[in-house]
Amino acid sequence: MANSCRKLVFNIYIGFYCSAVIMPQKCICSQFTSSPIDEFNKDAEAFPVATNGEIFPWHELRLPTVVIPLHYDLLIHPNLTSLDFVASEKIEVLVRDATQFIVLHSKDLEIINASLQSEEDVRYRKPGERLTVLSYPAHQQIALLVPEKLRPDLRYSVAIDFQAKLADGFEGFYKSTYRTLGGETRTIAVTDFEPTEARMAFPCFDEPLFKANFSIKIRRESRHIALSNMPKVKTIELEGGLLEDQFETTVKMSTYLVAYIVCDFTSVSGTTSSGVKVSIYASPDKWSQTHYALEASLKLLDFYENYFDIHYPLPKLDLIAIPDFASGAMENWGLITYRETSLLFDPKTSSTSDKLWVTEVIAHELAHQWFGNLVTMEWWNDIWLNEGFATYMELISLNITYPELQFDDNFSNTCFEVIKRDSLNSSHPISNQAKTPTQIQEMFDAVSYNKGACILNMLKDFLSEETFRKGIIHYLKKFSYRNAKNDDLWHSLSNNCLESDSTSSGFCYSDSKKTSNTLAFLRENVELKEMMATWTLQKGIPLVVVKREGRSLRLQQERFLSGVSKEDPEWGTLQERYLWHIPVTYSTSSSNVIHRHILKLKTDTLDLSEKTNWVKFNVDSNGYYIVHYEGQGWDELITLLNQNHTLLRPKDRIGLIHDAFQLVSAGRLTLDKALDLTRYLQHETSIPALLKGLEYLELFYLMVERRNISDVTENLKHYLLQYFKPVIDTQSWVDEGSVWDRMLRSTVLKLACYLNHAPCIQKATELFSQWMESSGKLNIPTDVLKIVYSVGAQTTAGWNYLLEQYELSLSGAEKNKILYALSTSKHQEKLMKLIELGMEGKVIKTQDLAALLFAIARNPKGQQLAWNFVKENWTHLLKKFELGSFPMRMIVSGTTSHFSSKDELQEVKLFFESLKAQGSHLDIFQTILEAISKNIKWLEKNLPTLRKWLLISI
Ligand code: BES
Ligand code: ZN
Repeated sequence: MANSCRKLVFNIYIGFYCSAVIMPQKCICSQFTSSPIDEFNKDAEAFPVATNGEIFPWHELRLPTVVIPLHYDLLIHPNLTSLDFVASEKIEVLVRDATQFIVLHSKDLEIINASLQSEEDVRYRKPGERLTVLSYPAHQQIALLVPEKLRPDLRYSVAIDFQAKLADGFEGFYKSTYRTLGGETRTIAVTDFEPTEARMAFPCFDEPLFKANFSIKIRRESRHIALSNMPKVKTIELEGGLLEDQFETTVKMSTYLVAYIVCDFTSVSGTTSSGVKVSIYASPDKWSQTHYALEASLKLLDFYENYFDIHYPLPKLDLIAIPDFASGAMENWGLITYRETSLLFDPKTSSTSDKLWVTEVIAHELAHQWFGNLVTMEWWNDIWLNEGFATYMELISLNITYPELQFDDNFSNTCFEVIKRDSLNSSHPISNQAKTPTQIQEMFDAVSYNKGACILNMLKDFLSEETFRKGIIHYLKKFSYRNAKNDDLWHSLSNNCLESDSTSSGFCYSDSKKTSNTLAFLRENVELKEMMATWTLQKGIPLVVVKREGRSLRLQQERFLSGVSKEDPEWGTLQERYLWHIPVTYSTSSSNVIHRHILKLKTDTLDLSEKTNWVKFNVDSNGYYIVHYEGQGWDELITLLNQNHTLLRPKDRIGLIHDAFQLVSAGRLTLDKALDLTRYLQHETSIPALLKGLEYLELFYLMVERRNISDVTENLKHYLLQYFKPVIDTQSWVDEGSVWDRMLRSTVLKLACYLNHAPCIQKATELFSQWMESSGKLNIPTDVLKIVYSVGAQTTAGWNYLLEQYELSLSGAEKNKILYALSTSKHQEKLMKLIELGMEGKVIKTQDLAALLFAIARNPKGQQLAWNFVKENWTHLLKKFELGSFPMRMIVSGTTSHFSSKDELQEVKLFFESLKAQGSHLDIFQTILEAISKNIKWLEKNLPTLRKWLLISI
C-alpha cells in the first residue's frame, strides 16, 4: 500500500511540474507553484497514517496543486437549539494532472459521505461514485480516494455530506449569544475563517491561492434571518416550515473570506453614490448604536471606489456587530464582521477615542475589500500585503473623509508602536516563513500591520502620493481576482509602461512629473525592488547617525538595537550584513526646503549649500529609521526647542522625543539629555507632541511604581503634577473641543487622578456619586467617563455598583470602561473575582478575558495575580483560545512583558520552557524574554540618572 501511494504521488508531481515550467502563462492556474522534486523524494518514505490506520497519500501541510477548485455549492443548515449543523457541498474541480486522490482541508467535521461525478456523469445524470475518505487530523486534511484515476484537464464534481457541532470558540462556524433587554439569552451562528478556519465549516481547499466562486444556501427557522457574502436571490419554503435562503454566486475569492450568519438582528441601510446598498446589523436592542457606522461606511466606500478607480464589485455590503468576537473585525467580502465595540457608537458613552477606533476599523476593513479581497497575497508569508496596506489606507482615507478626526497626527504612533518590537533581535522580516496554522496566525502582528503601513508611507513620501497612488491602482487592476507577491507590487509601482496591460491605467514610471531635478533623477535610477527588499526581507530598523562637520554632513547607517549598546560584546555580530536603502530627508535652519537623498551605503557624505545652525533628519517622521546626532547635534536641537519650538514641525518634534528615548535604550544618549529635551514641553503647542513626551514620563512612573522604588515614584509623581499643573488645571470636565483637545483631557485627567491629584479625585468622586444617585442615568462626559468610574471603583460600594451596571449596560463602549475601572481596584480579592467571572464567561464574556488580564497585569496590585493565574491555568486558557490567536498572545505578553527584574525573567523563562516541552511554542516568547531583559538593563543603567535628574528638577 505504502509503495503504490508513493508512486502515485510521484507521477502526479512530475506532471504538474512540467506543465508549470513549460507554459506558465498559458496554464489557467499559473500562479500555483510547487516545491522542488528533490524535497519530495527526500520525504517520500514519510507518509503519514490516516485515522483508520491506512496510509494517508499526502504528507505536506500545503495541498497538492494537481486538483484545483472552481466552484463550491454550499448548503448549510445550522440548528440554533441543538447547536450543531448539517451540510452538504458540491465542489467543481479541475484536474490538472492524472491523480487517484483529492486532498482537502477539513477540521473537526464529521464526513458522512463523499462521491464523485465526472462532467459526463453530471450531464447524463449518472449518480456519483462513492469515495473512500481518509482523514489526517494533524494536518487538518482529508483525502478522497477515487477508484479510477482522474483525467487531466477534465472537470469533476465532488459531493460531500458532513456535519459538526457549532464551535465553542471564535473560529469556524461558531455560536455566539447575547442577552436581550428583557433578560432572555439568544443564540446566533456566525463564521470567522481567517486565516485557516474555513476548514472547520466545510471541507475545502483552504489556502488563499485557491480562489473559486461560491453559491451558498442557508436553511433557517422563520424567526431568524440569514446573511452571507452576496445578496439573497430567493427564499424557498421547505417542509416543516423551514426556510432556505439562496444567495447569489460570489465573485472569485479565497475561502477565508466566505461568511454566513444566522441571527435575529435588525439593521439600518443606505446607498452609496454608485448604488451599493450598505447595511449595519446589530442585535435588536443595539439598533440605535448603528447610525454612526452607516454614515462612516457610506462615506468610506464612496472614497475607496474613487481613490482606487475600481468599483466595489458586489451589489451590497453588510457590516455586523457580533456579540462574541475574538479580534476587532474581519473583512469577509460583502459581510464584514465586527466586535461590537469596533462598530457601534453610543453618543452617551462612546468617547472620542472610541469614535476614532470605530472609524479606523471601518476604514481598515473597507480597504481590505480591495487589498486582500480583490487582490490577495499568494501565501500567508506576505500577509503584510493585506494588513500593511489596509493599515496604510486607514491613514489615506481618514485624512480625506474625516479631516476633523486629525488622524494624520496619530500615524507616527503606528510606527513607534512597531519600532519597540522591531528593534529587538527576535523581530522578523515583514515577509516571513509561515507553515503551520499557529505560525500563520503569528504573522498577524505589528510587523505585518504597522511596519507594513510605515514602509508604504515612507515609499509614498519618496515617490509622491500621486505616483504611489497610480502604482497601487495599477497593481489592483492587474491582479484583480488573483493573487500577488511582493515583487508584483514593486513591479507595478515602477516601470510598468513596459507591460502591455499597463498602459490602460495610464501610469508610466518614467513619465512621472519631474518636479524636482534631483528627485526625478533619483526616481529614475533607483531600483525600487532592490530598495524595498531591504525593508521587507530584512528584519529590524536602521539607525542613521549624523555628524555635522562645517558644511558637510557625515552619515552612517547601522542596525538599531534597543537594549544592546555598542560596548556590548554581541553588538558586532548583531550588525553583520545589515544594510538598507534609506530614503532620508532633512531640513535645516536656513530654508524650508526638504532635502532628499538615498543612503545606500554604510557611510556617505552630503554637502550643505549654506551654513546652518541645526539639521533635522526624517522630516515629518515619514521615514522608518531612527536618527542620532553626534557631536553638538542634540544640543543644537534642544536649544532650538527651548528657543522656538515652532521652527520645527509638530511631527518633527514628536520624532525627536521618540528618537531621543529610543537612543537612551540603546545606550547612545544619556537619559538626562533626553529628559532635558522634554523640558520645552511646558511651551509645547501641539497636543500630540505634548502627549508623546508625557507618555514617556508616565511609562517611567509605571515602571518604578511596579517595582516599588518608592523614592523615585514619589519624586516623579511630584514632578509630573508640578510640571504639568498648568495643563491639568485648565482641563474642563466637559466633552468639548477638537479631537486632540478631547484626547488631551482624557489623558491628562486620567494621569492626574491616577497620581491622586486632589482636585481631580474630588471632581471625579462628585460625578460618580451623582451618577450612582441617579441610578446610572446621569450622563457623564464621555471623555472622562473611564476616569470617573475608575475613581468610583476604589470603594467597595462603588466597585459593586459598577459591576451591577456592567451586567445591565447595553453599550460595549461603556462596558469596556467599567471593566477597566473594576480592574484598577487595589483589592486582590476583587481582581480575582473579575478573573473568575472572565473564566466563567457569563457576566464577563470570554472575548473580554484577554483585555481584562492585560488590565489587571498593568495594575501594580494585580500584576502578580494575573501572572500566577496565567501560569496555573494555561491549559484552561488554551481551551478557550487558539495558541497563536490575538487573545492568547495578548494574554501572554500582557502579563509578562512589563517585568523588569532578573527573578521575574527567570520565572518567565522557566514557564516558556515548560510550555515548549508540552508542545505549546510561540515565536513571541523570545520577544518577551528580550523585552524583559531590556527593561532590566534599562533600570540598571538609568535608575540612578533618573533619581538624580528628579532631585535637581523638583
Ligand atoms: N484580517 C483581520 C482579521 C484577522 C486578525 C484575521 C487576525 C486573522 C487573524 C482584520 O482585517 C483586522 O486586521 N482586524 C483588526 C482591526 C484593525 C483595525 C487593525 C483587529 O481585529 O484587531
Ligand atoms: Zn486587517
